[in-house]
Amino acid sequence: MSAIHPPAQRIWWKQPLDKIELAWILIAFVWCLVMFFMMPYWHVYGKQNLSNETYRTTPEIFAKKTQEVVDKHTVRTETEEKIPVVRPPAGGDVYLIARLWAWWPILELEKGKTYRLHLSAMDYQHGFSLQPENINVQVLPGYEHVMNVTPNRSGEYAIVCNEFCGIGHHKMVSKLYVVDK
Ligand code: CUA
Repeated sequence: MSAIHPPAQRIWWKQPLDKIELAWILIAFVWCLVMFFMMPYWHVYGKQNLSNETYRTTPEIFAKKTQEVVDKHTVRTETEEKIPVVRPPAGGDVYLIARLWAWWPILELEKGKTYRLHLSAMDYQHGFSLQPENINVQVLPGYEHVMNVTPNRSGEYAIVCNEFCGIGHHKMVSKLYVVDK
């Protein structure tokens, strides 16, 4: 029997299994198991995926909560669009909105302090990618992702959108500041 020609016997699945065929089935099965167990293993030891909590929300509720933090803790604005730079109290809740095609607001965090970072989208799926840390989180409308983050290096980080979200996708970039005190 070959892979290109039709099988000689119509009831081909009742023919005895070839040794090679069995070997490949076993190899494929073992590989499936390896990949299956690598998922939880890598989640814990790979230091790449952030454990997060997820809650249902709506764009309106999330925008309102973000606005409250922005109103309270904006320290300055940046760029022509006057994007607020928000410096929330250490240990506090930090909100970041993803929408076509911007991140809002800009966050300024303190090194060594732990924050609760809340992410949600207003419209479509976006991707929160923090560079050069290589942290990746999908951001979806209707869902609020919450992560505990503790920045361990001060400086300016880039946030890029890594889910294609339309014509302005490549312009959906922002930054995140981590300051020493
Ligand atoms: Cu947002 Cu791509």
